[in-house]
Amino acid sequence: MTGHAPPAAPSRPAMNPLREGLRLDQTPPPCTMVIFGVTGDLTHRKLMPQLYDLTVDTPLPASFSIVGFARRDWDDERFRSEMHGAVKGALGEEMDDASWQGFAPRLSYVSANFDELAGYQRLKEALDRLDTERGAGGNRIFYLATPPSYYPTIINNLNAAGLAQRAVPGDGQDGWTRLVIEKPFGHDLASAQSLNNEIAGTFAESQVYRIDHYLGKETVQNLLVFRFGNGIFEPLWNRQYIDNVQITVSEAIGIEGRGEFYEEAGALRDIVQNHMFQVLSLIAMEPPSTINEKTVRDEKVQVLQAITPLRGASIASDVVRGQYGPGWVAGRVAPGYRSEKGVDPDSSVETYVAMKVRIDNWRWAGVPFYLRTGKRLPQRTTEIAVQFRTAPALLFAGTSTMPPEPNVLTLRIQPDAGISLRFAAKVPGAEMQIRSVNMDFFYGTAFTASGPDDYARLLLDCMRGDQTLFARRDEVEQAWTLATPILDYWARNPRPQFPNYEAGTWGPPEADALIQRDGRRWRRL
Ligand code: BG6
Repeated sequence: MTGHAPPAAPSRPAMNPLREGLRLDQTPPPCTMVIFGVTGDLTHRKLMPQLYDLTVDTPLPASFSIVGFARRDWDDERFRSEMHGAVKGALGEEMDDASWQGFAPRLSYVSANFDELAGYQRLKEALDRLDTERGAGGNRIFYLATPPSYYPTIINNLNAAGLAQRAVPGDGQDGWTRLVIEKPFGHDLASAQSLNNEIAGTFAESQVYRIDHYLGKETVQNLLVFRFGNGIFEPLWNRQYIDNVQITVSEAIGIEGRGEFYEEAGALRDIVQNHMFQVLSLIAMEPPSTINEKTVRDEKVQVLQAITPLRGASIASDVVRGQYGPGWVAGRVAPGYRSEKGVDPDSSVETYVAMKVRIDNWRWAGVPFYLRTGKRLPQRTTEIAVQFRTAPALLFAGTSTMPPEPNVLTLRIQPDAGISLRFAAKVPGAEMQIRSVNMDFFYGTAFTASGPDDYARLLLDCMRGDQTLFARRDEVEQAWTLATPILDYWARNPRPQFPNYEAGTWGPPEADALIQRDGRRWRRL
């Protein structure tokens, strides 16, 4: 990508100065977080390790506690010991026993089926007890980390047990209640609308935090700082100077034992509809008048509304899907998608998507945005490459040098978070030779401090009542408005000839054809 190895970096990127500057004085208020589906994979891999980290690194109120709610017949002790294993598994040596001893008493457990009202009544008693004993102030966060089919049941039972009051700070009621929901928010437009209606029947939108962990990444938040905190880029950020934008989310991993989930999802639902459209809207949005949860999300949704909807023939020409067959990734044999556990041996689910998106507004008309994402590609990279228009080559016409290449500004989200600008330079010597070189910024070396990881950052925002980095109802539905016709078109049209790319390669040949048709090529990563 940059032609040389990045310098050694601390494990986490630095705090974002703009957001931190806005909120230094906002320590989270007391609260209790209830996690539904606490025995699942997400809690083990992400939530618990990051909540542990948060309590160690950030001064959370002493009253902050976590209640696990799940079907398994565990008690508090068993729950703590399971979570100890989860945190140890995720953090290894970074976890220390003394900190764990401080964290463990914050954990307690309620065992019940999700459809059992009596379980929610027991939960209410447990929460009331924590309010009295620990001083949680009646403030509650309900985190739904279960399979989405349970969301309506849980929401209805929270309501029936009197746990979903629409309290907001200052309205005279005891404490506030917030609902955090994990993606997928529906599997198409109709199901997303019906889920949102279901939620709206019980919770006000101001209580709802739809979590997209990409928005918790420092480097994603930095897109706003980069664009609006610098004077030199914004004047160039439009169709007059930019030729095209390429957004890549490439993963070397496969589906990591999540076959059943992935068979229902596929790459378009799993990555494009949420993470990639979120990144796209941050890159393309207009500057908001101020940074807050309304203005930022208003501008982001306007970008999605300005995207030219893909229909029929334009889907056939502008969207490519792929599925990996067996191959080699990072020197290891990788099985094909259809041989993964939980996957139909004849599956037509896509593990790769490439598409061309047009944003039909004054800033972007005529500038294609090329998106690609896939599993089992050669490496893990998430980046946005903004390619500027080529300089006229006239000046160098009489020389033997190649014409200068276009300037490219690359915003690297992960790994090696940073930014690089590619520009032409003269090769030293008597001849006129031009070569492209990179000017690089690496987060890891530029900052020594590091901020919380993605989930921790977002949970902290939720505790503080800041919804800016959470997907609003209209954003989610607009993203589905764009994605659903593609899914419908795929379902109506002949089964694709899958697999059509080998694990460890950059996707199907049709994806190259999609961009080459426009006289361009994918960036080599
Ligand atoms: C999740 C998807 O939302 O994001 C996974 O369900 C994917 O399939 C993951 O691997 C990627 O997240 P990250 O933070 O590793 O880029």
